[in-house]
Amino acid sequence: MKNFIENLPKAELHLHIEGSFEPELMFKIAKRNAIKIPFNSIKEIQDAYQFNCLQDFLDIYYQGAQVLITEQDFYDLTFSYLKKCDAQNVRHTEIMFDPQTHTERGVKFATVIAGITKAQKDAKIQFGITSLLIMSYLRHLSEKDAFKTLEESLPYKNQITCVGLDSSEKGNPPSKFKNVFKKSVEVGYIPVAHAGEEGNAGYIWEALDILNIKRIDHGNNCLQDTTLIKKIIKQDLALTICPLSNTALQVVKNLKEHPLKKMLDLGLKVTINSDDPAFFGGQVNQNYIEIQKALNLTKEDLYTLAKNSFQYSFLDKITKEKYLNELETYYKKNK
Ligand code: ADE
Ligand code: ZN
Repeated sequence: MKNFIENLPKAELHLHIEGSFEPELMFKIAKRNAIKIPFNSIKEIQDAYQFNCLQDFLDIYYQGAQVLITEQDFYDLTFSYLKKCDAQNVRHTEIMFDPQTHTERGVKFATVIAGITKAQKDAKIQFGITSLLIMSYLRHLSEKDAFKTLEESLPYKNQITCVGLDSSEKGNPPSKFKNVFKKSVEVGYIPVAHAGEEGNAGYIWEALDILNIKRIDHGNNCLQDTTLIKKIIKQDLALTICPLSNTALQVVKNLKEHPLKKMLDLGLKVTINSDDPAFFGGQVNQNYIEIQKALNLTKEDLYTLAKNSFQYSFLDKITKEKYLNELETYYKKNK
C-alpha cells in the first residue's frame, strides 16, 4: 500500500506555505536575517510542537513566520515545499499564503508574491508541477484589514486564483467577512474558507450561504447536521480533509476515530491534505499512509481520494483531464 500511495499521482488542495516551514530552513533564514528565535536547536523547536487546540498551534506558527523578510526567503520556503511535492508525486498544488502575517510586520505584499511566484515558475520548469495561489484573510483581524489586503493584491490579481479564510475560527464566523468576500468575488477571485474545523456546523452554513464558497477547508463538523450534509452533496462541494492536522490539533482524538471513511460512504467529496506539514508530523503522502492504515482504506478508496483531488481543484478543464487520465492509467496498472 505504501508503494501504491507514494507513486499515486495526486493534488494537494489545502496547504499553508507558512506551515511548510521546516525547522532546518527556519534556522537558516533566521541566521541569514540576523533574527533571534526563541529556540536553540531543531530539537527544541520540535519539542514545542505539542498542541491542545488550534490557537496553541497558531501562536507558534505566526512566531516562526516572523523570520521571513526578503523575496529570497519566500522563494526558498516555497521552492522547498514544491521539491517535496515532486518527491511525492504531487502533480498539482493549491498553495495558501497569509499576506497579513507579513505585511503587518512591514514586509511588502510585492516581496511575498514575487518570492512565491518565482518558485512556482521554477518548479513548473524543473518538475512539471502546476500550482495556484489562495490568498487567505486572517479571521482574527478585522474585515477592514482584509479589505486593505484585497486592495494590495489587485496589481497581482493574475497570479492569485482564490481568496480563503483561516486562523482562529471560534468567535470569528464567516459572516464577519461578508463584504470583503463579495468584493473579492467581484474582482475575480474564487472563494474558499476554513469552516467547521473547531467551529460548529453553523460556521459551515455561513460559509456556504453568506460567502458562497466553492470548496470547504476541513468541514469536519458538517457531520453534526444531516441537512447540511445533503446541501454540500447537492452543491457538489469538496472538503479538504487534513488527517494529521486533525489529530495534532485534537479536532479528532485519534486516526482510528477519524470520520473520513464515513464521509466517503455518505457521498461527500473528500480529499486528503497536509495543512501545515512541518508542524503536524507529515507531508501529504504520510497523511495518506497513516489514514489508510487506521481506517483500512482500499486501493479503490485511495483512487477516489486522489481523483477528487484533481476533480475538485481549480485547474482548467484540459489540465484536469490530463491529470485524471494519468491517474486512471496508474490505477488500472496497479490496482
Ligand atoms: N492557519 C494555518 N493552519 C490553519 C488551520 N489548520 N486552521 C486555521 N488556520 C490555519
Ligand atoms: Zn488550514
